[in-house]
Amino acid sequence: MISSTGRELQIVADVEELNRAAAREFVHRAEKAVQAKGFFAAALSGGSTPRGVYSLLGSEGGSFRARVPWDRVHLFWGDERHVPPDHPESNYRMVRETLLATAPVPPENVHRIEAERPDADGAAEDYERLLREFFQSREGRWPQFDLVLLGMGSDGHTASLFPHTIALDETEHLVVAHYVNALGAHRITLTAPVINRAANVIFLVSGESKASVLREVLEGEYEPQRLPSQLIRPSQGRLVFIVDRAAAGQLTGPRSDES
Ligand code: 6PG
Repeated sequence: MISSTGRELQIVADVEELNRAAAREFVHRAEKAVQAKGFFAAALSGGSTPRGVYSLLGSEGGSFRARVPWDRVHLFWGDERHVPPDHPESNYRMVRETLLATAPVPPENVHRIEAERPDADGAAEDYERLLREFFQSREGRWPQFDLVLLGMGSDGHTASLFPHTIALDETEHLVVAHYVNALGAHRITLTAPVINRAANVIFLVSGESKASVLREVLEGEYEPQRLPSQLIRPSQGRLVFIVDRAAAGQLTGPRSDES
């Protein structure tokens, strides 16, 4: 369903349906991008919600893996914790254990954030340089991801754009590192401007614990410092929310639940 704001809201029965809907989107966007320009650039979300999507996409018995032109797929990360790539909290490790364990993505197409570096700012600067070089060399323009997958925290954050942090006000850089007081840790994240240039931005939101914040983000006042997910408003791309019924439980607007 497309609302008056141009957002697409897909309400699905449960997390299994969410995984399938997200996998379908990934495959479709990858097919279209590769047909149009020979490659597909996707920034992946961390956290736990997308684990099932990544496992489904790569699963050898599934119906998705064979449809993706993996050799033309370039994977990036929307954010990373300031930890080594083999750390239990690493978003790279999570993708390695789910998607990369079975999907034949060429290693040179996996562009992780080097968050093991003691200097988080340096890691952010290097990642920004990588992005600019990647897109400039292929398309001669500002980085524009074909797909950005995002989660949503119960505090309204997305990627590592946390409430009331300096990362929210960044308008020039594509990638920033910042200390998140609420976490007591540094995070490295894409900034809103580069996410908002993407052709397709898809939020994956699952579970009753997200129902309240999802209602505030979608139906409440525009308060992006408190609800950073509201910063995500693609200038020309699609904005899609794929949510399960548990997460949609407090939405009051018109809805067309998928079966
Ligand atoms: C991260 C993610 C973060 C995540 C939300 C939701 O690094 O943790 O990028 O933005 O998407 O915190 O996390 P869950 O999907 O685990 O609820």
